[in-house]
Amino acid sequence: MLKNKRILLIISGGIAAYKSLELIRRLKEHGVEVAPILTRGGAEFVTPLSVASLAGHKVYQELFDLDEEAEMGHIELSRSADLIVVAPATAHLIAKMAQGFADDLASTTLLATDTAVLVAPAMNVRMWENPSTQRNVSVLEQDGVDFVGPNEGTMACGEFGPGRLAEPIEIIDAIARKLSENLSAPLAGKRVLVTAGPTHEPIDPVRYIANRSSGKQGFAIAREAAKLGAETILIAGPTALATPVGVRRIDVETAEEMLHQCQAAGSCDVAIFAAAVADWRVNSPAKQKFKKTKSAIPELSFVENPDILATISQNSKGRPKLVIGFAAETEHVDKNAEEKRIRKGCDWIIANDVSPETGIMGGDFNQIRLITQNGTEIWPKLSKKLVAKRLVERIITEFGDQADAAE
Ligand code: CTP
Repeated sequence: MLKNKRILLIISGGIAAYKSLELIRRLKEHGVEVAPILTRGGAEFVTPLSVASLAGHKVYQELFDLDEEAEMGHIELSRSADLIVVAPATAHLIAKMAQGFADDLASTTLLATDTAVLVAPAMNVRMWENPSTQRNVSVLEQDGVDFVGPNEGTMACGEFGPGRLAEPIEIIDAIARKLSENLSAPLAGKRVLVTAGPTHEPIDPVRYIANRSSGKQGFAIAREAAKLGAETILIAGPTALATPVGVRRIDVETAEEMLHQCQAAGSCDVAIFAAAVADWRVNSPAKQKFKKTKSAIPELSFVENPDILATISQNSKGRPKLVIGFAAETEHVDKNAEEKRIRKGCDWIIANDVSPETGIMGGDFNQIRLITQNGTEIWPKLSKKLVAKRLVERIITEFGDQADAAE
């Protein structure tokens, strides 16, 4: 389970930092590659030389070290690991993580990552029990961060209670659990691409054409796919929604950028096109802002945007095994959606009635009809989260059936 895994180990400042050396030693015995980041505080307790010698790996220390940035920028560093482990994690680093501060290499890496994070806190018992620390821990837990320890016992400061760093063996068990969680998840090993949100098509540098899509349905699907173990790439048009835990998000503005990113994402098992892509874009958007003159009212001419769903569905090389489109209709929902499924060449279409009176566009609920090669399933009105859950379960069943058929 642990062999050949890559762990980014962040060592922050605390007396327990000495135990991180033992942790590195044991991880190496299990065949783990350990890339260490040592914070300034951490370097007060253990030396970079001891860490580098035990890890057999360069120690990363400074955010603005040009050599390090040139070799491997902090963004790449944060994403190159199977798991990020913070041991020991001080109250200060936990607070920075909960608030999203990025003022050194460790905190910036933690903010930039889309890799799972395991935190092993170590601090004085009162600092651990302080309501602010407890608040920060629960914020991080809600964000999907896992904790191991702290343990109860006598502390270096002489006090007794919870605050001791978990033992290296316990941290290794938690690492193994965390890594296996994803392996046994139903979508483990699958790559899922999701598009979501509207697109913005520029008119001039300050104006654009957009639509009412909120992105909620696509984001909920991406969240659910990642939760069930898929490597999930979310190509998002402009929306203020937060990135779901475990999802790699790529922000785009226009339909052309969205297509480009979908193609650049590489081969996928499932592609779900929930974005409300603009069908047309303005022909040659103005380079300067249109000015209001009395005589001339600007006239816009349009060109057709690429159809992302159709392009990916009809790609003979590397087509995803399952391509799912949406059909937002205001009338003749079934008929239009089935025609769309065939015209665009996708496997399933999720059809919904987006007439203004349904309140679906921008709202939290959705009522869909799932149209497949085998007919139409009518789903009850559900929250967008539950639609996402049910859809991902449906995808898992489909893959199960395909595997059975192949045997
Ligand atoms: N879609 C896309 N690229 C486009 C237009 C639509 O990928 N340029 C995708 C949407 O993400 C959705 C599906 O196609 O999954 C259907 O979108 P919709 O706007 O309903 O279809 P249109 O082709 O635009 O048909 P119409 O506007 O005539 O209903």
